[in-house]
Amino acid sequence: MSEEFRIIGKSLPRFDGPVKVAGEVKFLEDIEIPGCWLGGVVRSEVPRGVVRKIETLPAFAETGAVLVTAEDIPGENYVAIVRSDYPALAAPAVNYATQAVALVAAPDAESLKRAMAAVVVEIEPLPPIFTVEESAASKELIWGEDNCIDHYHTERGDLRKGFAEADVVVEGEWETGLQEQMYLETQGMAAWRAGDGIELLGSLQCPFYVVNAVAAALGLPHEKVTVRQSATGGAFGGKEDYPSILGVYAALLAWKSGKKVKIVYDRSEDLLVSPKRHPSKSRYRMGLTKDGKITALDAEIKLDAGAYTTLTRVVLQRTHLHAAGCYYVPNVRVRSSAWATNTPPNGAFRGFGAPQAIFAIERTMDLAAERLEMDPLDIRLLNTIKTGDLFPYGQVLREGNNAEGVLLKAAELSDYRRRREILSQQREGRFRKGIGISLALHGGGFTGAGEANMGTTAKMTFDGKRFRIYTSSTEMGQGASTVLPMVAAEALGVELEDVLYVEPDTKYTPNTGPTVASRTTMYAGKAVQDACENLKKAIENGGAPLSGKALVEAAKRYLEKEGRAEALGYNIFTDGQSWDEEKFAGDAYHGYAWIANAVEVELDMDTYEATPLSAAVAAEVGRAINPMQAKAQLTGGVLQAFGWAHIEDLKTDAKGRYTAAHMNAYLVPTTLDTPEWKVELLEDPCPAGCYGAKGLGELPCDAGAAAFVAAIDHAAQIFSHCAPMTGEKIFEAIEKRDNGGE
Ligand code: MOS
Repeated sequence: MSEEFRIIGKSLPRFDGPVKVAGEVKFLEDIEIPGCWLGGVVRSEVPRGVVRKIETLPAFAETGAVLVTAEDIPGENYVAIVRSDYPALAAPAVNYATQAVALVAAPDAESLKRAMAAVVVEIEPLPPIFTVEESAASKELIWGEDNCIDHYHTERGDLRKGFAEADVVVEGEWETGLQEQMYLETQGMAAWRAGDGIELLGSLQCPFYVVNAVAAALGLPHEKVTVRQSATGGAFGGKEDYPSILGVYAALLAWKSGKKVKIVYDRSEDLLVSPKRHPSKSRYRMGLTKDGKITALDAEIKLDAGAYTTLTRVVLQRTHLHAAGCYYVPNVRVRSSAWATNTPPNGAFRGFGAPQAIFAIERTMDLAAERLEMDPLDIRLLNTIKTGDLFPYGQVLREGNNAEGVLLKAAELSDYRRRREILSQQREGRFRKGIGISLALHGGGFTGAGEANMGTTAKMTFDGKRFRIYTSSTEMGQGASTVLPMVAAEALGVELEDVLYVEPDTKYTPNTGPTVASRTTMYAGKAVQDACENLKKAIENGGAPLSGKALVEAAKRYLEKEGRAEALGYNIFTDGQSWDEEKFAGDAYHGYAWIANAVEVELDMDTYEATPLSAAVAAEVGRAINPMQAKAQLTGGVLQAFGWAHIEDLKTDAKGRYTAAHMNAYLVPTTLDTPEWKVELLEDPCPAGCYGAKGLGELPCDAGAAAFVAAIDHAAQIFSHCAPMTGEKIFEAIEKRDNGGE
């Protein structure tokens, strides 16, 4: 713990923890809203087509239900996210099976069921496309002029010269799959008219995103839309865009019916319609000297966007910028693109495009190590980006050699070299072990000029007893309601019990930006700190600096005299960074967090089941505001990455629908799949972050899959090109090797 601070650096348990652990927290479904109707969504059964007719049978009227079709939408028929290409209700084009065509609200569950069954939708089918290859070849045109949702291109140095200088060239094709967030409680939103406006309550990450979307769909000014967050047990990106969609549905139903309307999905519907991690396919060509130094990299990555943009553009930006991972590459080309398919739109998932890129670069490093007969650790150590080196997009690394730092630390924690050697000798029997290592970085906050343009604002008030924190940064189980009070108490110089985190309500809270992109501690925290300093200054009124009880007493006198005590605060950058959006080059992020994982896996050669036994996690996170929470974030996220690496296997059927409609058909890691953890934090405080903090929420999802797959490879003596490496795929790879296929 740092001695400069009283509260920053303390390991405190999460304030929202006890009620959640005790099962006492009330999620939206548990909240009684008197007189509330229930809403449902009528969906397309075909992946592509044209809506010809929507009718109700006589039974519909008997239920007293209300139907909403595209014609009932008072504002614009789209859900405002990155673009406005995603219709709230398909009219007339349908572009994926399960797409919303109409909405129904009814007084109770039984009549909702009967009413939904009495809606008849006729859709004339068109031929769908389901793969990135079909989309890129314009087999059918389903989006824009060429099905390409977005694409980026970066070149630096001289690629031809770089490959000419290489002694060896390795080339690999890499593939990663869909992934479901599997938050605790399912998606849910409630809406009701309030005067000439509307109010919403639901499980969400980004209150102002929902305001924007609902205002556009209802044709209301933003101040007529109020959004409140209900308790959120988990989100992982899955509640970044979807609450805007569900919020629009609930708002349209409430608007037309005049009733309060609640929609809470059951797990099945949630799994089938909510956004997943984008599947990726990439091809990496890398040139190296015989000593293992990288001379050139040519990387091409394609993401499957699903039917509409939602967040794909920004996800792809992060994929693109993380394509070379933690390595210095003098001659480099990166091409990335995202393609429309007739499947549900893919969206945000912790890591936000970086895990796909890191999987590809880390596996390419393993491939190069194998070709050069080097250890995977050594080839990485030789190429890590160092202070003063350029990233492919032109940013100079200004901080310490943290890629090297975390790698060495993970190797030490796992006893990597010794374990690698010992396990390499043990290649007999039913249970075989392997160890893999991987490295990643994560740019904190929005990409490019996103943070500078955000206008991140927080407000502090004094209510006569305590200092209150008003932000739109939501608690979703990640610790915002613990860390922001720690920041405020530190900045004010008071005790934690003198500070209160207020649940976001867009009527009262300023726009601190969305709770995404690992930006809450790093940047929302800075706005809170600034608001605290401004309020403190006002209370001190030019007198001596006050803290503790003296400040609380002075605040009481100030409030009595002025009638109110409040101050705004902002996140302002003074690091002189610049970004060129046109060229998509420059200072992409104000701070990078770094992680290395070494994982030891046991592979059952009868069942091909892989079990992680122990995992070392070394992460450089700037200043750890709450080290215990930081470590908890790291282990939770790495476990999600491990799930993506071997058991989370989600497919689509002949209509482009997800095949898993229940939790028993989609496995996520449980405590039984959890390794013994060895976690260590390294701290290189970041000048742009709150008290030196860097964003660490997403970092742990970035590297784990590559290490896990490498460990499977080490155990089974194969080389894997995809995640997840399920038992079936391990079996196939062993068969292929033994039949001389590899
Ligand atoms: Mo996120 S995956 O930026 O909520």
